[in-house]
Amino acid sequence: MRGTFHFEADNLSTEWNKKIVPVRHDLATNPLFADEALAKLIEGNPQAIREVSTMDPGREDRASWKRASFEDMSGMEILQAVRDGLLWINVAEAGSFDPRYQAIIDKLLGDLAAQVPGLKTFQHRIGLLISSPNARVFYHCDIPGQGLMHVRGEKTIWIYPDGDPFLPQEALERVVTGLSYEEIDYDPTFEEKATVLHLKPGMGALWPLNYPHRVVNGDSLNVSFTVEYWTDEIRRHYLVNLANGGTAFRRLETRSRAISGPVFWMKAGFAAAWKLSGAKKHFAAKIKPDFSISKKKQLEAASQPFKEAAE
Ligand SMILES: [Fe+2]
Repeated sequence: MRGTFHFEADNLSTEWNKKIVPVRHDLATNPLFADEALAKLIEGNPQAIREVSTMDPGREDRASWKRASFEDMSGMEILQAVRDGLLWINVAEAGSFDPRYQAIIDKLLGDLAAQVPGLKTFQHRIGLLISSPNARVFYHCDIPGQGLMHVRGEKTIWIYPDGDPFLPQEALERVVTGLSYEEIDYDPTFEEKATVLHLKPGMGALWPLNYPHRVVNGDSLNVSFTVEYWTDEIRRHYLVNLANGGTAFRRLETRSRAISGPVFWMKAGFAAAWKLSGAKKHFAAKIKPDFSISKKKQLEAASQPFKEAAE
């Protein structure tokens, strides 16, 4: 029930967090990812849905990403809406609503740590992604340690290196400070350096910290889950980027990326104060739904322009 995971690396201990590591798992037929279980999870815990969005499936256009919310719909009706429309649902932290999902992510990261000497991960989170045929997720980066396991349908993920020009330091700092919501600039010339993985059920990947990526679904309902974790080193990178993203440190010109030593600890203190003061919340990108979905007709009306573009 908790899954078995095979990490496809010649030497996992040296390749983890340095290279993209493809993963094989046996969750494609696990009933926890079948419609019945997903519908029950959503219906019993509507607050578990962190985000519902629609988008232009035809091109990389993050401005077309529109947030939605569901009203008065059963779990099965929501799944049908995803099948029929152009939607992307993130049931973030599914493990905190049902320990069986938490057991899966704990098993995966436990298996990883067992094969990477010295690796200690914490704050394991599993985010269930349920998305429509042809839906896409635009170019972005994530802040915690990250991976994607694919369970149902087919999708393609493009993963890019970090650093210039794929992820300029300032863009990363804007994401960390919440000034932009995981959004970074995409350029078609990046494709030359992309690693492209065509994911079928039972496949997945882990990638090095902050590597940008984008995803396009095949013509099928997709169920996947994100792997999210922290390590002490990831936490230190986060604190430094958070402090560097603050205007105080821009003025002081102390934007070193060191994750130890006195400058690091000064920044760690600043980062804690920044969060506690509410400044991060104040400056963070505001997230409000652009429309709500209460009946199938409204859903179709909302996503019709993009649906036509996909056909
Ligand atoms: Fe991501």
